[in-house]
Parts: sequence; C-alpha cells; structure tokens
Amino acid sequence: MKNTTYINNKFIDHNKAKISVDDRGFLFADSVYELINVSNKKIIDLDQHLNRLKVSLRKVKIKYKLNKKKYEEIINKLIKLNKIFNGYIYIQITRGVAERKHEFPNKYSPTTIIFTKHLKINKKIYEKGVKIITIPDIRWLRRDIKTTSLLPNVLSKQLAVEKNAFESWLIDDGNITEGSASNAWIIKNSNTIVTHPANNKILKGVTRDTIIKILKKNGFNIKEKPFNLIEAKNAKEAFLTSSTLSVLPVVKIDNYNISKGKPGDITKKIINLYNNYISKNKTLLSRELKIA
Ligand code: PDD
Repeated sequence: MKNTTYINNKFIDHNKAKISVDDRGFLFADSVYELINVSNKKIIDLDQHLNRLKVSLRKVKIKYKLNKKKYEEIINKLIKLNKIFNGYIYIQITRGVAERKHEFPNKYSPTTIIFTKHLKINKKIYEKGVKIITIPDIRWLRRDIKTTSLLPNVLSKQLAVEKNAFESWLIDDGNITEGSASNAWIIKNSNTIVTHPANNKILKGVTRDTIIKILKKNGFNIKEKPFNLIEAKNAKEAFLTSSTLSVLPVVKIDNYNISKGKPGDITKKIINLYNNYISKNKTLLSRELKIA
C-alpha cells in the first residue's frame, strides 16, 4: 500500500523520503520528536503533543516557528492519504544540515519529518498484563526533553526483551523514574495512585497528564512523588502509560507477582475511564471541518 510522508514541505512516497548524512539529527541526535496516537481515526491529545514539541524545541534551542494550524492540515492529510484507522503520527524536527561541528551552526534550516504508521492492538497484553524488569537508569539528566537521543532507552528496552519482559522500569537514586518508553505507576494498598513527579528525571507523558486529570475528576487520590522498588513490589496494582499503549496493566515486577499476577480491578477501571476519554476526542472529520 502507498505510504506518504511529509518531509520539508513536500509530501512524498515514504520509501523515497531521505535526509542528508550531514543532518545534525543523524550525526548528533540534535533533534526532538513527538509520537501521537490515532485511535478509530481520532487524533489523541494533538494540542498537548504540539505544545510539548514547542517546549522541547525551546529547551534544545532549535529556532522554529511551529504553526499549529499548518500541522493539523499536514497531519489530517497524511491520515487520510495513508488511511490510518489505528496507528500513530511521528514528528521529528532536527537542527538541519550543517558541517559536522558540535556547536550550533550560525544559520540553519531545521529538517521536519512527519510520517504515519498503522498499529495493530495486541488485546492479549491488556487482558493478561505484562512483566517488567527493573534496571539502573543510565540516562542523562534532561529526560524531560523529548529528544531522539534514545540509545540508553533502546538498550534498556532490549534488556527487557532479552529477559522475556515487556518493559524496563529504571531506577535512579533508589527510586523508579519511568519505563524505557512509558511512564510508571503503582497503586498502593490505601488506594493511592503514585507516579514520579514531572521533573528533569522523567518525560512528562501526555498520557500521564491526561490520566492524572481523569483520575482526579473521578475522585482518586493521586500522589506525584518518587517510589522505590520495595514500594513497587508491595503495590496492590501497577500499570504503565504511553501514547501507543494507553494504560497497560503490570502484573510482575522482576520475579514478584503484582495483584496475584492478574490485572487488578482499579487498573481495569482506569483503562475504561481512559478508553471513554479517547472515544470523546475529536475525530479527523471534525478537525477537517474546523480547518475548512
Ligand atoms: N514514548 N517516558 C518515555 C521515556 C517515553 O519515551 C514515553 C513515550 C513516555 C510516555 O509519554 P506519552 O504519554 O506522551 O507518549 C514516557 C513514545 C511512545 C515513543 O518514544 O515511542
């Protein structure tokens, strides 16, 4: 099937979309990105993702005028052309092509890439829950920036896969920060839901923010505070969140069963609340009408 990608103001065949070997995104991972979920043709939390992209650009000092309306148009066009029903939109902005020197070039023209992918939802992992392992957090101290400098995340995820686990939860200074590509949550016996505070040690997930809002609205007790491995292993329930996974139950941490090795009732309720929220997100059609 034909797959169209947007690269620097052009819509082209994905297989023909190329960047220069001199692109700083390629040479230095001097770039930021976003990944936005598309569920039933609905673009989930688009505004929040574009806002975070703006924040990332500012934090890495890439000069870039991000026009939200133009982005909406490009994204809608790609979803339509590529017939995305369930999938995701990937956006990457680099500092562009320049001679390989660490310092910023005096003048540069950023590279913009936007592509889409179809995603098949694996229902089994939601019904059964997943196993995670815990390993040291070997990343830098600006994990709040959504940069493509992801080698520590890649190595951490690979370790999980090699241990037949789904994800790695990363431990820094005795506390679990987050997963290699997701945010980490535990539900304590007092029914308090705990997740790491959004500081430089984690990525402030868009899904995380939405879940916090939904849970607060529904009377849950949320604590944004660090938790350690002992607290995690003694948790009543645990789960992880990300744009591609939504809310996924965690039923084993290292070799400890959580909630008897099955998704717990509170997690199931949170999944339902989030699915409800998703179904109320704007459809592609309503966004198109807004633009027209
Ligand atoms: N990852 N923490 C990390 C390190 C992440 O890479 C991600 C998302 C999250 C969750 O953020 P959000 O809810 O905004 O998706 C937390 C994406 C999905 C990825 O890189 O594939």
